[in-house]
Amino acid sequence: MNIFGSQNRREDSDFIVTPWTVEGEVDYNKLVERFGTSIIDDKLMERFVRAAGEDHHLLRRRIFFSHRDLDKVLDDWENGRGFFLYTGRGPSGPMHIGHIIPFYFTKWLQDRFKANIYIQLTDDEKFLEESRGLTLEDTLKWSYENTLDIIAVGLDPDKTFIFQNTEYIKNMYPIALKVARKINFSWVRAVFGFTHESNIGMIFYPALQIVPALFEKKRCLIPAAIDQDPYWRIQRDIAESLGYYKTAAIHSKFLPPLTGPVGKMSASRPESAIYLNDDEKTVRKKIWVAYSGGQPTVELHRKLGGNPEVDVAFQWLKFFFEPDDNKIKKLEEDYRMGKILSGEMKTLLIEKVTAFLEEHQAKREEAKELLHLYKYDGELAREMWKKIHV
Ligand code: TRP
Repeated sequence: MNIFGSQNRREDSDFIVTPWTVEGEVDYNKLVERFGTSIIDDKLMERFVRAAGEDHHLLRRRIFFSHRDLDKVLDDWENGRGFFLYTGRGPSGPMHIGHIIPFYFTKWLQDRFKANIYIQLTDDEKFLEESRGLTLEDTLKWSYENTLDIIAVGLDPDKTFIFQNTEYIKNMYPIALKVARKINFSWVRAVFGFTHESNIGMIFYPALQIVPALFEKKRCLIPAAIDQDPYWRIQRDIAESLGYYKTAAIHSKFLPPLTGPVGKMSASRPESAIYLNDDEKTVRKKIWVAYSGGQPTVELHRKLGGNPEVDVAFQWLKFFFEPDDNKIKKLEEDYRMGKILSGEMKTLLIEKVTAFLEEHQAKREEAKELLHLYKYDGELAREMWKKIHV
């Protein structure tokens, strides 16, 4: 399937971002222009932090760097109307660290703004993507597995609803129909690059990803990686004609793959990512061989210094694992000056990642008893699970 939208063709540029592909080295300023979103400027960030009553390093470091209508979300918040949150997960396999970071940020948003969260598990979408070769049993199983990781993040069970499309479809279908009638084939073809060979499930699917942004008659704020934005663009074009608000969005960059700055972490390259169920030995091994900004020998490194811009260990610390700005600044300077070696940077990251995973995995165990609190019905998933594994 040709998945490159009309404004997003490989031959026109050095990188591509679509909901299904990230290729090349992403230039985020160019991407914002292509997608028609806005950079979160200092003023908006300060206003946001003031409303939240607390800063977050994912904002401060511009990992969540782009938005749509975030100012309007803050207007609604300030005048008491409030807003709700929506995000999701395509259950195609085990989750890695890049997948879970937006959920931690979403939890922070929920805590600060006391907002409801809807989390969509798109088992249908991952089944329909033929190139993945997954059965419906597979995507049901991954829905269950991924839900445990999402619950482990600690979202407020009284304000969080997790649902799986194949199960919840009955409740979404009436809205999906209203959405679908407003979208013609030429439009989704232009946005998503569908062709005559695309299966008709994929062509209908965008309606289903749009529906949760219409779950409440309030403004919706979607925290997600920027590759999902094409769906929100369509939602915004049709929402008001259906009597809803245009959705707002806050977009993140991609955590760079361990293998270097090109492309994104993917299941087809397990060495590019750290999975939430990786054990300590695996973490150590993967980080140890990660792409580095260091010099070939210690002598040269001491003399010439390293390049933190491309050093994956440093980038991961900056992206998420070291929230202390002073420490990050010092690490960056010392690395550049050759005072810190690549191995030392990696050791630091290994410690942080290991501690993070240890805590996450313990919470994931507890999550098994908590599924019902999130109204994750999962009946179908559990039945399937038994058939496959018992
Ligand atoms: N399509 C997304 C994926 O493949 C899953 C998803 C559904 C999603 N709804 C969402 C992601 C809302 C972010 C926000 O991963």
